[in-house]
Amino acid sequence: MILIKLGGSIITDKSQYRTFNRYAVSRLCGEIKNSGESVLMVHGAGSFGHILAKKYSLQDGLTDFGQVPAVARVQYDVRELNLMVIKEMLNAGIPAMSVPPGSCFMMDNGKLTVGDSEIIRSALHMSIMPVMFGDVVFDRSTGFGICSGDQIVEVLCRIYSPKKVVFVSDVDGLYDTNPKSNPNSNLLTEVTSEILGRISDESSVDDVTGGVRAKAEAMLRMTAAERDCILVNGSVPGRLYSSLKGERVISTTARGGL
Ligand code: IPE
Repeated sequence: MILIKLGGSIITDKSQYRTFNRYAVSRLCGEIKNSGESVLMVHGAGSFGHILAKKYSLQDGLTDFGQVPAVARVQYDVRELNLMVIKEMLNAGIPAMSVPPGSCFMMDNGKLTVGDSEIIRSALHMSIMPVMFGDVVFDRSTGFGICSGDQIVEVLCRIYSPKKVVFVSDVDGLYDTNPKSNPNSNLLTEVTSEILGRISDESSVDDVTGGVRAKAEAMLRMTAAERDCILVNGSVPGRLYSSLKGERVISTTARGGL
């Protein structure tokens, strides 16, 4: 099984509140379907989550009851996004099912506390694709917190041992500095723990769940002896399909552990 995360940068316009990239999502669902691979999918929140989460500092947990309406609103927005993604999967012929982390999981001090999930196993057993996403999740220590899609992928990786993990973004891979603001940045085709220090942590959009270095570290944590973790550009047609089929594409491959 291959674990995929569709990042918020590819499924939404991260700078415009609640802007869904239906065309890109529809095409990517077609690429997943055509690959014939068994896939477990997670997606990010993009502009359906980050903009309000940042405005109300939801990543800091409960500090003021004035945040509570925003907690409910962000949960609502990311669920709508999830259903729009699922609609495109169904249209592509993939039986997909919504599994909202905020209703199924808890966190403790920002750490997701998920054990082996019977719901996810049952869905996979029937070849139904359970689709989880970045969400606001209750937290035993801080009241609530932001659970990123990356955190979910990391936990699923430990539980289900996929043969490969693929992150889909709107850039060709990880760069040593931000390619959107620095034309001299270099694509890192391979990330190992040794070259982590060369990656700058600047980010082009306001985000509450960490920048590029955090992504590189998370990718490395998800690697294993027989498992690479790849970041591909989903805005280039065919790239996700090729990477699912094991072909070499322009991308960043993390290998060798943290
Ligand atoms: C963020 O999830 C969740 C919320 C802000 C509610 P992610 O961190 O996985 O989202 P993207 O991929 O960066 O948009």
